[in-house]
Amino acid sequence: MKIGILTSGGDCPGLNAVIRGIGKYCFNNIKNCEIVGIADGYGGLIRGECHEMKKSDFSGILTLGGTILGTSRQPFKLMTVEDENNVSRLKLMKQNYKKMGLDCLLTLGGAGTHKTAALLSAEGCNVIGLPKTIDNDIWGTDVTFGFHTAVDIATECIDRLHTTAASHGRTMLVEIMGNKAGWLTLYSGLAGGADIILLPEIPFSPEKVAKAVEKRADSGKAFSIVAVAEGAMTIEESKMKKKERAEKRGDATTITQWLSKYVSEKANVEARVVVPGHIQRGGSPSAYDRVLSTEFGSFAGKLIKDEHYGVTVAMVKGKVTYNALSEIAGKAKLVPTDCQEIKTGESIGISFGR
Ligand code: F6P
Repeated sequence: MKIGILTSGGDCPGLNAVIRGIGKYCFNNIKNCEIVGIADGYGGLIRGECHEMKKSDFSGILTLGGTILGTSRQPFKLMTVEDENNVSRLKLMKQNYKKMGLDCLLTLGGAGTHKTAALLSAEGCNVIGLPKTIDNDIWGTDVTFGFHTAVDIATECIDRLHTTAASHGRTMLVEIMGNKAGWLTLYSGLAGGADIILLPEIPFSPEKVAKAVEKRADSGKAFSIVAVAEGAMTIEESKMKKKERAEKRGDATTITQWLSKYVSEKANVEARVVVPGHIQRGGSPSAYDRVLSTEFGSFAGKLIKDEHYGVTVAMVKGKVTYNALSEIAGKAKLVPTDCQEIKTGESIGISFGR
């Protein structure tokens, strides 16, 4: 049994822990098992770049951040585009899958990775996906690995902002990763005690945000913390095309910068923008993610043993299971605007700008 593993898209804590889970399960439970690591995600599969992984490669990596295999972003829409010799990336990947002598391919990645995985599966490759992303937006799984670690990191950022915000009586706007899905902002905002939480799923009224800051000031709270998802937008912007939105924001290239200027003028407060950025994806996975990644990795190993392909691993109601790649590819799990977490936030006075 020859198994190929690749990690694709943005990295996150837990990738190596999943790789370890797969390797340890396979070497312990599958006879004549060979594993190859494919370099830099689908990039390595396109170029035919891989190396044999020994038992020892799967040791000592549980706590290691990033990915030992390397990763890259390979846009799905380019996969079937042919070059001047009528060769597409998809064709190259299929050829290299054969050349490498793979019996199956494990793809650790987010939404884009899963779309390509479903395509390869439909084209006859034996593929098993594993749901990775700090955005937690993969359809059909309650949780993705990497999400909880990112929540912990973003929460710590918000915690630390509290003391400096309170000391100066400032409004701190912290920009949390998540372009389409606001899970990370919602969870870290709630965990960090943000006063205002702005999500891509709920276009907000800037007037209401400024009012919420003023209301706090009137009640004697001179500082406010605003957790802003990088993909958040105003109600007016939500009706615009991407280009129009950028024009409207002018010099303020992000929504957080734009809102900071707006709130400081409207509510007459001193405001600062904080962008933790890729720190949210860096470093060691949390204990939760180490356990989840180990469960996901070993479950994928069991799927290999059973030769059960064309699926992706998932957690549903506390049970590790799988979904058909064809079922989940191209779908996104966004924050429902009436979910329990938002209701809880609103019930204790957090503004979502609506
Ligand atoms: O998909 C994970 C993610 O971290 C998003 O939250 C963020 O918008 C994006 O990746 C950033 O991508 P890059 O690492 O390519 O800058």
